Amino acid sequence: MEPRVTSEGLGSRREALIEQIRAETGIDEPMIARLVDAFYGKVRADPLLGPVFDARISDWEPHLAQMRLFWSSVALMSGVYHGRPMPKHLPLPVDATHFDRWLELFEQTAREVCPPAAADHFIERARRIAESLELGIAGAHGVLLGKGERYVRQPEARRSPG
Ligand code: HEM
Repeated sequence: MEPRVTSEGLGSRREALIEQIRAETGIDEPMIARLVDAFYGKVRADPLLGPVFDARISDWEPHLAQMRLFWSSVALMSGVYHGRPMPKHLPLPVDATHFDRWLELFEQTAREVCPPAAADHFIERARRIAESLELGIAGAHGVLLGKGERYVRQPEARRSPG
């Protein structure tokens, strides 16, 4: 008979996996906090991305706190983030240009703030998530992207109303 997978078993395997990632990359909560804070500092100062965030976030501390939890869940599989990012991005006035800039700033920050193995770990995940958000946003506008295709808005759609 197959051994039963108990929640205890899953728990300790998850802990072992987190330990392995921590050991191989050096990622821990303080590093995540430094990455998140430095990255959103750049984002807020960026002429393309800054206004998109400014229009929606007035109190930055709760957003930064959520983003630290998010990156802990993504990078260390800690399970501490319980939000749903996709619905928050679907209404944003963004396309491939914004995602390219987001990734450029994220990669720049990760290289500045983290040792190489940790930076690689964050960047790989950021790229995958950015791709899926871009796919989702395109889909919400009735555009089905093929493999490798990017979402480029028509100029009319990019103009903000009013
Ligand atoms: C075009 C690029 C992006 C823009 C302009 C953008 C903008 C935003 C904004 C304005 C919010 C706040 C929404 C709200 O609270 O109503 C948000 C939330 C969030 N973003 Fe992005 N985002 C971008 C890409 C990404 C990427 C690539 C990731 C992940 C790798 C990400 C992760 C998140 C998460 C997890 C939240 C939700 C936090 C929560 O649960 O409150 N975003 N984003």
